[in-house]
Amino acid sequence: MNNFVLKGDVAYSVSKNKTAYAENAYIICIEGKSAGVYRDLPEQYASLPMKDYTGKLIIPGLVDLHIHAPQFAYRGLGMDMELLDWLNAYAFPEETKYADLTYAEKAYDIFANAMKKSATTRACAFSTIHKDATVLLMRKLENTGIVSYVGKVNMDRESPESYIESSAQASAEETERWIHETAGYFNRTYPIITPRFVPSCTPELLSSLGELSRRYALPVQSHLSENRGEIEWVKELEPDSAFYGEVYDKYGLFGDPQKTVMAHCVYSTDDEMELMKERGVFVAHCPASNMNVASGIAPVRKYLDNDLNIGLGSDVAGGHTESLFTTMVETIQNSKLYWRTIDSSMKPLKFEEVFFLATKGGGAFFGKVGSFEKGYEFDALVFDDKTIAHPQPLSLSQRLERLVYLGGDRRCMQAKYVKGLKIL
Ligand code: GUN
Ligand code: FE
Repeated sequence: MNNFVLKGDVAYSVSKNKTAYAENAYIICIEGKSAGVYRDLPEQYASLPMKDYTGKLIIPGLVDLHIHAPQFAYRGLGMDMELLDWLNAYAFPEETKYADLTYAEKAYDIFANAMKKSATTRACAFSTIHKDATVLLMRKLENTGIVSYVGKVNMDRESPESYIESSAQASAEETERWIHETAGYFNRTYPIITPRFVPSCTPELLSSLGELSRRYALPVQSHLSENRGEIEWVKELEPDSAFYGEVYDKYGLFGDPQKTVMAHCVYSTDDEMELMKERGVFVAHCPASNMNVASGIAPVRKYLDNDLNIGLGSDVAGGHTESLFTTMVETIQNSKLYWRTIDSSMKPLKFEEVFFLATKGGGAFFGKVGSFEKGYEFDALVFDDKTIAHPQPLSLSQRLERLVYLGGDRRCMQAKYVKGLKIL
């Protein structure tokens, strides 16, 4: 079995307010899980193979709770519109192309390669409405070694003629075929039920998807309360629901008993927030996208202080980059603007809180993931941060903060381990 020791300067979240730091320490990996971090190598592990990363920084892998794989092709383009126009102008036309498997193969190769090289070790990804391209994406992600949930997207209303499924029944049947083809098929890649958002799914489809989620015990991902125009539209389409999240909840697509992650939650009301907490729904906070398509600033401080489940999402291509270090910086910056311009009682996020969100906060969606505490699945990143010169010594916490702000994921990442496997 793959048992080994890493030696280096270690940092990991214990809780949202506590980061553990250990210089010149040993992290033990036994059967894909952490057996703890030690200042001195315990006798019982002394005979294990050791990778010596002395002087280098080792942190848990980062978790991307929300990314659109097909949109990776046009990331960094078309940032001149609000959400609903942006979907029609850019997202839907691009996603339509994945009916063509030759195109999907080319585009998903580029995406999978970028994910492999990134600091992301776990991801929740949307594909498109196409079953076969979704299976292709899953195969490519499986080959990278990262762990992911991938969703075939469902859309049966209010969508372009060329990018819509023919009926709720057709959409649900195709989804069930896809589940049969993929559930239990891969080691590191799992299906997740993915209604795009309420405007693109009829109640009949939502009801069938809730049933599939229940029957096959599959988690759920979607979008929630992202943009004012979108929220108004949901009110018009579903006037009987008191708030946006209640629509998903009506159909069993809002947490407990199935894990659910909802992207954005920029304008969630107190009622919505309460229900999310009650059902254990995860928030995927996507600051880049919230700025790029001008949705707004999400109240992350409120979610954290109310102990909601929450992590970060790159939301490529509303977000322009898959870099979760960038997302971390934007999360702190956004929280400062929220405090300064919206609610002065909501204090800006501290670095350690955002480190928690990027690792253990989002990691909880995958189980015991995102920390080096005993029993956590072994996802680790190694950085040679000395290559970013500095004229005097820095503490470990300063090194970590600087690494994140200066884009260390692209400048000096040296190794990447996922579930005990070295993939880079
Ligand atoms: N809401 C529905 N679809 C999308 C999407 O592709 N991106 C974002 N940011 N929001 C959405
Ligand atoms: Fe999204």
